[in-house]
Amino acid sequence: MHNAGRLSGKTALITGSARGIGTAFAKAYVLEGARVCIADINLDAARATAKSIGENAIAVHLDVTKQDSIDAAVAETIEKLGAIDILINNAALFTAAPIAEIKREDYDQVFAVNFAGSLFTLQAVAKHMIERGQGGKIINMASQAGRRGEGLVAVYCATKAAIISLTQSAGMDLIKYGINVNAISPGVVGGEHWDGVDALFAQYENKAPGQKKKEVGEGVPFGRMGVAEDLTGMAVFLATDDAKYIVSQTYNVDGGQWMS
Ligand SMILES: NC(=O)c1ccc[n+]([C@@H]2O[C@H](COP(=O)([O-])OP(=O)(O)OC[C@H]3O[C@@H](n4cnc5c(N)ncnc54)[C@H](O)[C@@H]3O)[C@@H](O)[C@H]2O)c1
Repeated sequence: MHNAGRLSGKTALITGSARGIGTAFAKAYVLEGARVCIADINLDAARATAKSIGENAIAVHLDVTKQDSIDAAVAETIEKLGAIDILINNAALFTAAPIAEIKREDYDQVFAVNFAGSLFTLQAVAKHMIERGQGGKIINMASQAGRRGEGLVAVYCATKAAIISLTQSAGMDLIKYGINVNAISPGVVGGEHWDGVDALFAQYENKAPGQKKKEVGEGVPFGRMGVAEDLTGMAVFLATDDAKYIVSQTYNVDGGQWMS
């Protein structure tokens, strides 16, 4: 599947990787010779995922909304893997509601995970990379939802637009240390995340369960909804030295959903 060895000797911290796209990234990185840390708020699931990947994966508890937890997870990863060469800011929550029904608690929680969580994890790992002096690669997970608004998805869309902006600013600031910051913008990717999205649309658009997912998949120019493995090639590439001259970019990997 991959050209094994492109990440030989590298270590990666991947947030929210106990399931879904993050797990696919971890598996692809290990196939390329990296050792990975599965960092997730769900430690039992993180442990099970790490075990299924094998000896080149460890699991740590991480709640990206808590600074103590970020600091502890970064320290534990460095202690166990020796250093962090690559960070993927992947943990996120999805929420949906019409503007008139958005709840402040929901807004606070989704921004705390998707935006502040990514910013302060990026900061903690960047400090380590700067101190170590060997550069690094940071990949943020954006979304097509960050490229344009959607009627029911104001809060999530705004977090992902903010991720695209953060990728630009952090990339500008950190490239002088040899740290490349870029982002991946997926379209629609099947899995437990999208099962939750489908349930929310079923509620707000009076659709039968599975209907929204089917419609959305049929609407993708490529002809189907994405799978997590559709994204791993870009995640590997951005973590290699072939990407060292790429700074502050957000790449659409979405079957043709968005052009930029
Ligand atoms: N699935 C899609 O269609 C899609 C589309 C565009 C972008 N994305 C983005 O890709 C990334 C991965 O998506 P996914 O589909 O794998 O999502 P997912 O919901 O399957 O996985 C998210 C993971 O994050 C973890 N998490 C939640 N809160 C956390 C916290 N406070 N601290 C640490 N971990 C926490 C969860 O336990 C879970 O393992 C996300 O950033 C998402 O926004 C997904």
